[in-house]
Amino acid sequence: MKGFPEDFLWGGAVAANQVEGAYLEDGKGLTTVDLLPQGERRFEIMLGDLKGFTPDPDTFYPSHEGIDFYHTYKEDIALFAEMGFKALRLSIAWTRIFPTGEESEPNEAGLAFYDSVFDELRKYNIEPVVTMAHFDVPVALVEKYGGWRDRKLVELFETYAKTILTRYKDKVRYWMTFNEINMLLHLPYIGAGLVFKEGENKKKIQYQAAHHQLVASALAVKACHEIIPNAMCGCMLAAGATYPYTPDPEDVWDAVQKDRDTFFFIDVQARGAYPGYAKRMLREQGLFPDMEPGDEDILEAHTVDYLGFSYYSSRATSTDPEVNAQAAQGNVFGSVPNPYLKSSEWGWAIDPKGLRITANQLYERYQKPLFIVENGLGAVDQPTDDFVVEDDYRIAYLQAHVKEMKEAILDGVELLGYTSWGPIDLVSASTGEMKKRYGYIYVDRNNDGSGSLKRAKKKSFAWYKQVIETNGEDL
Ligand code: BG6
Repeated sequence: MKGFPEDFLWGGAVAANQVEGAYLEDGKGLTTVDLLPQGERRFEIMLGDLKGFTPDPDTFYPSHEGIDFYHTYKEDIALFAEMGFKALRLSIAWTRIFPTGEESEPNEAGLAFYDSVFDELRKYNIEPVVTMAHFDVPVALVEKYGGWRDRKLVELFETYAKTILTRYKDKVRYWMTFNEINMLLHLPYIGAGLVFKEGENKKKIQYQAAHHQLVASALAVKACHEIIPNAMCGCMLAAGATYPYTPDPEDVWDAVQKDRDTFFFIDVQARGAYPGYAKRMLREQGLFPDMEPGDEDILEAHTVDYLGFSYYSSRATSTDPEVNAQAAQGNVFGSVPNPYLKSSEWGWAIDPKGLRITANQLYERYQKPLFIVENGLGAVDQPTDDFVVEDDYRIAYLQAHVKEMKEAILDGVELLGYTSWGPIDLVSASTGEMKKRYGYIYVDRNNDGSGSLKRAKKKSFAWYKQVIETNGEDL
């Protein structure tokens, strides 16, 4: 083995609500992210606090226009093709297909939109890698059922999954169920539509919602195997190994526990059962979710074919209160700063070796093919007046990560592909900003929604093109 396999899927990844815009066009319904403004309030809502919140016509909601991909996808896909993309990871907006989540018939205009997108990708031999739910719950289901806390969503999601699998069975071979499913424990509103009332046991509701998503995911895998026998259906984890801050066994054990918060989801999706440590914790803390007869059989019978994961940074954990007091800001995993690593402008630790560590850890644990479906550096770019961006910092970040990815392959990790996050600038999920840019392609749009939406190639565009052309040999 020399390095990257010949059929390695190089490309990029986006999500419907962060690029499409057109948030009510052609019959689309409101989704959770459509109610997230920028700024501090965004974070509070993502944590499940909608107290006193109603959509305000004077507030700027970045998802409403996104980067207008709904209208520019042809031109954007042509740029991806120019870089030589073999794959594009994107998500289908549930609310384009079922605007309230409960219609008896799907919305034909929504289905037709993704038909055109997939046809456009096929024109350039770009493989679509499709996430069924990327931080996307119909608001109507949040209002009526309280989101994924209610069992009803399992059935509604299964209908949605069957609808899209049937419609795109000849166009899409790589599927993924829930984006970063473990984020449900950190940002419960965005991906699970959970809003908490005063005095509720939040953790109990989160694990109940998690159970519902895990069953729904298994049913989607089942449907995928039945409807498209040659397809692969995966799960998706917000990954990043947890390091103990010191060799104190207390810190080491704490790191094991933190990793288990994450592994819990994938242990169920990839191995087919609640692991012993999770059963113990859920029982002892009174968090065990209600299950229906047959749920355990469903989970066992329909495990995923591959493991998709995002990797931005590793995490560090400590049991020392003084160290914990420095926990990095803006870090949903509550990581303490790692003194050996530098951080991005948003406080995310930069750790290329952590990608090799994480990939090895996941492969050894699950023995299923991996797919790195997100990785990248969110940074402020300084374009010239004619939109030239010399983003050497982004190249350096990606280069270092691709090198470690190659090492992981040489270690024996089976890797299907690499779709870096945001190949074109898009709206940030955590902050709603545009200035947190990941792209090889610059988009002239600012935090306040101003800008011409013009696209321009950054320096990293040519760099990534060369990486793909040489199958990762020339970095
Ligand atoms: C992942 C999400 O958490 O990280 C993406 O799947 C998100 O939707 C990405 O955009 C980067 O995070 P941010 O907050 O910089 O956009």
